[in-house]
Formats: sequence, C-alpha cells, structure tokens
Amino acid sequence: MHSPLAGQIALVTGASSGIGSGVATALADAGARVAINYHAHAEPAEKLAAAITARGGDAFAVGADVSDEAQVDAMFDAVVKRFGTVDIVVANSGLQKDAKFTALTLADWRTVIETNLTGQFLTAQRAVREFERRGPRDVSKALGKIICMSSVHEVIPWAGHVNYAASKGGIQMMMKSLAQEVAPQRIRVNGIAPGAIRTPINRDAWDTQEKLERLLKLVPYGRIGEVEDIGRAAVWLASDESDYVVGTTLFVDGGMTLYPGFADNG
Ligand code: BGC
Repeated sequence: MHSPLAGQIALVTGASSGIGSGVATALADAGARVAINYHAHAEPAEKLAAAITARGGDAFAVGADVSDEAQVDAMFDAVVKRFGTVDIVVANSGLQKDAKFTALTLADWRTVIETNLTGQFLTAQRAVREFERRGPRDVSKALGKIICMSSVHEVIPWAGHVNYAASKGGIQMMMKSLAQEVAPQRIRVNGIAPGAIRTPINRDAWDTQEKLERLLKLVPYGRIGEVEDIGRAAVWLASDESDYVVGTTLFVDGGMTLYPGFADNG
C-alpha cells in the first residue's frame, strides 16, 4: 500500500461521521496514526478506531466539543500523551442549523459560528502551538500541516443558511490569514471546500431519486461526491506531495462552483 504519511500523526475533529470519518480513514490508510475526535457520539468514533486498528493501523477516539477552549486543550493533551505529538490537524467539525433569515434564532446563529468557525480557530491555534513546542521532525518537510474543512459556501451564497455560509466565508479568511502568518515557520495551512458529498448533513438533498436529480443540476460532473473524494484530497494536502501548496482552498465539488446555470447560454 502507498504510505505517503508513514510515521506521521494526525488529528481529525468531527470524525465520528461524514466527511471527518472519511478523512480519518484515508489518512490512516496512507500510513498516519490517527486521533478521531467526536463530540456527541463516542460509539461510531470508537468503532472507526477499532476498524483502523484491526487492519494494522493505529487510532483512538477522543471526545471534545471544539467550541470549548478547555476541551480543545484536553483533546490535544490526550493526543500528545498517546502519540507524542501531532503533524497533521484537520479542523473538520461542522454543523448546519438552517432557517429562513427572519426565523433564525440567535442561539442557532451562535451554535453554528461557535462550532464551525471558533472551533477551527481553537483547533488551529493549539495545532500551531504544538508544532512550535516540539520543533522539526524528520517525517515531513513541513513543521506541521493544518487543513481547514470549508465548503463551496465559502464563495456560493446560500439563502436559508446564512449562519452556515457566514461561518464558511470566515473559515476562508481565517485559513488564508493564518497561512500567511505561519508559513515562515514552515507550517502549511490549506482548506478543502467540498461540494455536495453524500453524508448525513445533507441527506435531505439526495435521499430520493427526485431530490438527487435536482441536486445534480448543480453539479456539472454529474454525480454526487463521496467522502473518499475528500479523503484523497486531504491525504494529498497533508503529504509532502503538496509541499509548495500554502494558503489555498482546494475545491472538491464536481464543478459546483463553475456557475452551472450559465452552461446553456445563461
Ligand atoms: C453543505 C451541504 C450541501 C453542500 C453543497 C455543504 O457545505 O453542508 O449541506 O449539500 O455544501 O451545497
């Protein structure tokens, strides 16, 4: 098996389901030892860790609400205790609380911003501190790599999802500003912007043939994405294969950001 991440240690937040779970699996299969963060559901995270371990990898599940500073500290402490340090941090935890703008509660605005944006801030900050603490390792050309999970909605406005789109737009500029700040230390910060990926977060957009057909009108490549599509992108961004890629958002969206509405003369 190709092991571009052999000897490296990864932490993936929000990895008990969906894209996070696919990314944790892909990083493990590329040779990394993986900490699988979950918030509410320990069981699927522990199952995933057990499955990785059963096929010769090394993984464990660690609980934390990424919007809570003390819990993020405890999560990093647990990773350092178990694996010694971390080389690759994927800030992935995210959720949607959708509502028409006039009905959007302050609580739902805050929950989405705090998990999606503040959670990535806290996760990335602890990652940078840990990379600085332990100094260079001979497993990678970079001191460390951070991948911020964004969305096509960092650029595509989304009515009925103002809190979510605002959080993803924020992630884009947080990622780029942080990338600029820490690149001199050879820390690479990049983002992945998935389009429509088949996960529980958007089940309502693909779970009947009719809905799937409507969704595919927005995807020039003509298929829904799978978590493996994002996992492969994460492996590449975490590996030295992308060593000169700094502060970039990699769109993995089947062309969703190509304004498909204009394909037929606008
Ligand atoms: C959202 C999904 C949506 C996709 C494309 C993602 O960021 O979480 O619900 O299907 O963007 O619109």
